[in-house]
Amino acid sequence: MTASTTAVPVRVPRGLRGPLAPMRFEATVEDCAVTYGEIPPELNGGFYRNGPAWKRPTIQGLDTPYSMDGMIQALVFREGRADFRNRWTRTPKYLAEEAAGRALFEWSDAHFGDWRAWALGEVERNSRTAGVPQGTNGVNVVPFGNQILALGENNAPVALDPITLETIGVVPWSAELGTAMVARAHPGDGAFAAHPKWDERTGELYGWSYSDRPPYVTLHWVAPGGKVRSRPLEDAPYNTVAHDVWLTERYLVVPFQPFTVGQDRIRAGHSAYAWDPALPMSLALVDRDDLDGPVRWISADFEAEYVMHMLSANHVGNTIVLDAPIFDRPPFQFEDRFAPGDGFVPFWKLATSGIGRWVVDLERGTMRTEKLGDRPVELPKVDERYYGRPYEWAFLTAGDPQPDGGMRMNTVVRRNVRTGAEEEYLVDEDRHVTVFEGTLAPRSPDAPEGDGFFLVPVCRFAERTSEFLIFDTRGFSDGPITRIALPFQIGWSPHGHWMDFS
Ligand SMILES: [Fe+2]
Repeated sequence: MTASTTAVPVRVPRGLRGPLAPMRFEATVEDCAVTYGEIPPELNGGFYRNGPAWKRPTIQGLDTPYSMDGMIQALVFREGRADFRNRWTRTPKYLAEEAAGRALFEWSDAHFGDWRAWALGEVERNSRTAGVPQGTNGVNVVPFGNQILALGENNAPVALDPITLETIGVVPWSAELGTAMVARAHPGDGAFAAHPKWDERTGELYGWSYSDRPPYVTLHWVAPGGKVRSRPLEDAPYNTVAHDVWLTERYLVVPFQPFTVGQDRIRAGHSAYAWDPALPMSLALVDRDDLDGPVRWISADFEAEYVMHMLSANHVGNTIVLDAPIFDRPPFQFEDRFAPGDGFVPFWKLATSGIGRWVVDLERGTMRTEKLGDRPVELPKVDERYYGRPYEWAFLTAGDPQPDGGMRMNTVVRRNVRTGAEEEYLVDEDRHVTVFEGTLAPRSPDAPEGDGFFLVPVCRFAERTSEFLIFDTRGFSDGPITRIALPFQIGWSPHGHWMDFS
């Protein structure tokens, strides 16, 4: 079958307007305007963000989250100045469509045309799409060696140059990665997590892939040179959306939560995602020093709840304290509350999460949950130099619960996870201002944990302008010490990280 040549009107989902409206252009803004304060001269590195931004409408006329091409935004700091660039990641899909000058891909779930459409289904294969991976790499971006990796969870990482944002290409170790829930377009079309962790001291990247077919989750630990060691979790109880994990001093901790995904659901006319709280929750503890050794499974005896993104973890006596915002259920749309034809609703309008932790008792082999606050918090960040090490400082975006059950994020928080003490700053109460996920830039490579500058993107979507705010952790609640202005709307990007050049 060949793709239709009939022009299809662009139907932008309502949820992708306003602050979600993606940039549809590539910009370079050198020496960005500083409207308040000064850029700390200690900053020497880049703040990278990744998000879906449609280059062109899909054949099906609906820009579903995973069909939109990933776009990297970079704010690079050197010698007291900041340069902004944004570029689409030149994935194989992007390059094929660029060569054709139009969209080529159709997804089996995009024809739903409503909240069920994620572009998680199989794509229509024809002469133009044969052998071309469908991944768009638009979820997260992390530093790895001297490159940054654009990640999309259902496909292999794509490496980019951290200064120019030129795409280098799919990582050479992609063939060693597991298969996601869509068929491989060719043997190198592997999958890798969107939220891998890394150990600053060794450079090891701790990732995984997941699928709706056994073994469901396969771990992929990547050495700095690109050597991959893999291990399937052969006793995995069911397929789970393995979006994020904890890395402790001793373990990689993979949660099995009853948030599942499946091609069979799409074929039956449902959303790929499902929530089945009757399934038991458990954790897989994988020894960091013995990837091929026995996996310890810990069962939860409390009612199902949902952790989407993790802070980090501490071993305390014979327990492991796993910190995270906790939802009652995933902030996604399911059939118990939504009907075919309903529109897409972004996650922060669906549910709220409060700070909490799961505590694993290693002696008894049990775990319990503790909720430590009611205020909505999400987008948890830590000092990433301390992934897999004891830690103390958490950074969160907080907000107010909304009458419709969602949360409006407007505040940044620095929290001591050991004492529970918090410092906070209300960025703006204007509902036309949105605070996005921040990142911590350490004051120096050997600065104490949590000490440095917290960089926060802010979108003023009524004015169609944006800011990057810089908070000094020594005086966090005093507000930003620097405001950097951009003359356009940067739009929503789910995740980003800091890469230090020092
Ligand atoms: Fe995420």
